[in-house]
Amino acid sequence: MRLSVDGVEIAYSDEGSGVPLLFVHAFPLNRTMWDPQVQFLASYCRVITVDLRGHGESDAPSWFYAMDQLSDDLRALLDHLLIDRAVLCGLSMGGYALLAFYQKYRERVLGLILSDTRAGADSSEARGRRFRMAQAVQREGAVAVAEEMLPKLLSARSLQERPELAKTVYRMILSTPISGIMGDLMGMALRSDATPALSEIQSPTLILVGEEDGLTTPAEARLMADKIAGATLVIVPGAAHLVNLEQPGRFNEAVLQFIQSVK
Ligand code: MLT
Repeated sequence: MRLSVDGVEIAYSDEGSGVPLLFVHAFPLNRTMWDPQVQFLASYCRVITVDLRGHGESDAPSWFYAMDQLSDDLRALLDHLLIDRAVLCGLSMGGYALLAFYQKYRERVLGLILSDTRAGADSSEARGRRFRMAQAVQREGAVAVAEEMLPKLLSARSLQERPELAKTVYRMILSTPISGIMGDLMGMALRSDATPALSEIQSPTLILVGEEDGLTTPAEARLMADKIAGATLVIVPGAAHLVNLEQPGRFNEAVLQFIQSVK
């Protein structure tokens, strides 16, 4: 299914019924990264997954994808689906978008699930990595990102023992248009620091992180949990960055428990 936001087509899926739960994917992936969650959770609630602009089946204009823009797209999707309030779950860049969303549209948030993400802005070193990656993408295409990111997204064990999973993630990255990758890199490099806003979060919040996540570390997750009143922190063993794909059972159980506690 699709909706148009100022002429940009955004693709989404909508399954199940009950409490609305909207999943927002990571960089540089798409909504299919949530397949194990849709399969399990659609029996318990209404599960919506979206391809952010630049990803999957959505349009990918050559532009700068500010987190603010992504949060406007998410609000437009909720409006389109006539959903007043939803539980929002974002992983990594998806979490950056949700922290921007919360600052603009908190009245639409029933609960927040922040997975393998951080509140802080990019350091100048991190920004430098984005610019280097942008140049590599320009030269070599999405394969440059796939090669650099894959060993960071999955744990060494997953990479060794789950070649099918590694292949799925690799292919997902390769399928992402260059304009989408560039738009994300610029948007992430220039995003603002959401740390001061954490103490204003009043919605029930669940924070999940893979114990071996080196991209957005358990220490950063703990920092967010310390600043958000009443937040629950779950550190998942046997997973790096893509905790929902590496440990879907534990991830799904934690999300289900959270959904049942907020409805
Ligand atoms: C992601 O998984 O969305 C990215 O690793 C986030 C980032 O590069 O900061």
